[in-house]
Amino acid sequence: MDTQSGTARRVGDIAPFHVMEVQTAARALEAAGRSVVHMEIGEPDFPTPAPVLAAARDALTDGGIYYTSALGIPELRQAIARHYAERFGVAIAPERVIVTAGSSAALLLVMALLVDRDEQIVLSDPGYPCNRHFVRVLEGEPVGVPVGPDTNYQLSAGLIERNWTARTRGVLIASPSNPTGTTVPPDEMRAIAATVARQGGRLIVDEIYLGLSYGSEPLSVLSLAGAAADDLFVVSSFSKYFNMTGWRLGWTIVPERHVRDVEKLAQNLYISPPTLSQRAALACFLPETLAILEQRRQAFRDRRDFLVPALRGLGFGIPVLPSGGFFVYADSSRFSPDSERFCRDVLEGAGVAITPGVDFGAHRASEHVRFAYTIEMAKLEDGVARLARYLAGR
Ligand SMILES: Cc1ncc(COP(=O)(O)O)c(C=O)c1O
Repeated sequence: MDTQSGTARRVGDIAPFHVMEVQTAARALEAAGRSVVHMEIGEPDFPTPAPVLAAARDALTDGGIYYTSALGIPELRQAIARHYAERFGVAIAPERVIVTAGSSAALLLVMALLVDRDEQIVLSDPGYPCNRHFVRVLEGEPVGVPVGPDTNYQLSAGLIERNWTARTRGVLIASPSNPTGTTVPPDEMRAIAATVARQGGRLIVDEIYLGLSYGSEPLSVLSLAGAAADDLFVVSSFSKYFNMTGWRLGWTIVPERHVRDVEKLAQNLYISPPTLSQRAALACFLPETLAILEQRRQAFRDRRDFLVPALRGLGFGIPVLPSGGFFVYADSSRFSPDSERFCRDVLEGAGVAITPGVDFGAHRASEHVRFAYTIEMAKLEDGVARLARYLAGR
């Protein structure tokens, strides 16, 4: 225990989301009558697709919103497995699919399954901040490995090999990534899977942004790893591609021999994923829903295609084109050596809210900011125009 705070020591190691502080400051400016362009928000601006809402209404009318199996309702597990076959061309046994309370719960379950005290999980720095905290809460040790443009801001087989120790238990990769929007190339992902298997470790791939890919056909690690795919852990979600953040629904695909253990953990940690959300999510895979989602994916792509060259034109460094998700991680060192201060100044001076790099790790964090393109094109254009005026007048 930490004698000063009276709380467990792990709590002191959990950092708050700085982006929330940006949001609070932005809302305060708005309350004072200023207009703010929000480029800090990490969720799609699109509402839940109409067929999903209709399915939720039907489920409510039927009533019967009871606990489900901790693994999720069988129809949804089957529908997710079918989606992998249809969208990503890979056959997954539905028994391997476990529906969870957001991918956040999936990450917690997988870490709880794998990590013992003082065991290490290798992560990219920058990366999604909660990952290191999941490992820490379980008394493991997150090992952030600095990554940059030379490896698409992602871990590589070489980096994993060099950072492997006797205490390494596994590797967690998000591809496409938050905050960089970059993807691990297929050959590199194969090499990573082979390296981790050779070391006797476990590979966990967070594919929450895979549906929002803008390059060539999106490839799940499950279709890349060959026979090793049976031993992989994949984490994904209804939050981003399916525009269902607040429904708190995700899933994980685990090796078949671990399903029973993950079930035990889920039963004890939260009993079952939200029932109404599961019934609603069955409508995610209807052709009419997928047609809506594909239009929205195109809208995200158009926004990226506008934003990246516009920011480069202003002097931000974006050496690798983001290929998925809805974030741009930009080098802001030309404007300031202190990105937290820069974000405060940009909010105050330009009325544009962006997130400082410190939210995503330590490596060159003070030289980077994250832009989210989760607002409509006219607002993005306004945001860029504001930034241009502000930066020219400094
Ligand atoms: C890379 C990544 N993984 C996981 C999550 C968690 O999302 P959820 O719990 O809504 O599925 C997020 C949310 O922003 C994310 O960016």
